[in-house]
Amino acid sequence: MSAAFHVTKPLAGAAFGATARLSKPLADEIPAGLPAVLAEAGGLLLIPGLQEIAREPELLVALSRQFGPEVEDYRYTLTARSSVHPAVPEILLVSNMAPVSKAPPRLPDPPLTADGRLPVQYPHRVGWHTDQSYRRPPPDISLFYAVTPAARDRGQTLFADGTAAYAALPPHLKARVEGLQGLHCQPGTARSRSNVLAGRTDVAQAPTARSQPQPVVRIHPVTGKPALYLCEWGQMDWVDGPFVGLEPGSHGEGAALLDELTSYGTTAAWSMPRPGSTAPPSSA
Ligand SMILES: [Fe+2]
Repeated sequence: MSAAFHVTKPLAGAAFGATARLSKPLADEIPAGLPAVLAEAGGLLLIPGLQEIAREPELLVALSRQFGPEVEDYRYTLTARSSVHPAVPEILLVSNMAPVSKAPPRLPDPPLTADGRLPVQYPHRVGWHTDQSYRRPPPDISLFYAVTPAARDRGQTLFADGTAAYAALPPHLKARVEGLQGLHCQPGTARSRSNVLAGRTDVAQAPTARSQPQPVVRIHPVTGKPALYLCEWGQMDWVDGPFVGLEPGSHGEGAALLDELTSYGTTAAWSMPRPGSTAPPSSA
């Protein structure tokens, strides 16, 4: 244990993740040693009590630099300017308020599981993705900070354990994903599954914005553990993918494999606790 923070794990209601409570405000000390905690926690670390970031957003970037030397400036990553923080361009804004005005995702249908829980497993819950997976190279980690939480009954932030997902795959699926590459695509283009099904044909991509192949199984650089690395409807390329070398399209062999893998991969998901709650709404 470090004097700079105190770690408990796993996260309440989950089989993975950890909580790190810092001893001092970030403005007084950016603690070292958190990357090792993140790796040991399976890649998900909750750091409560960082409200000072709302007043001083540069602290989020300072904390990011503890996890690696390169923190990107979103002004140079083909990001809509309205989604780039006006004062700290290393921060991407995700909001349903102006100027970002990103529409909230649809509620699952039905909104609860048969036993009254929050749906997490694909395809009942859709929207699963790993942030910026269409970049080359993709980021190692993401840091999230909620300035204004969404309404309690929607906008939940869910996390799935890709390491546990790979470990739980039956042998025939492990064999199918060995050496396989997924084709990841920037969200919001004509190549999303919904837009391909809707018949969009404006699928041409600029040379700087092409879909990127990524290994379906990635080996964690610290723990050496294999993990599933995938997205689904909105962030794979459904014209030339979703997998390199398999039948493409929304109804092909690749689509069937992706649906099967994603269903396995989202059985062990965790939901961020909402303000005022003492436990996740549910987990599966
Ligand atoms: Fe995301």
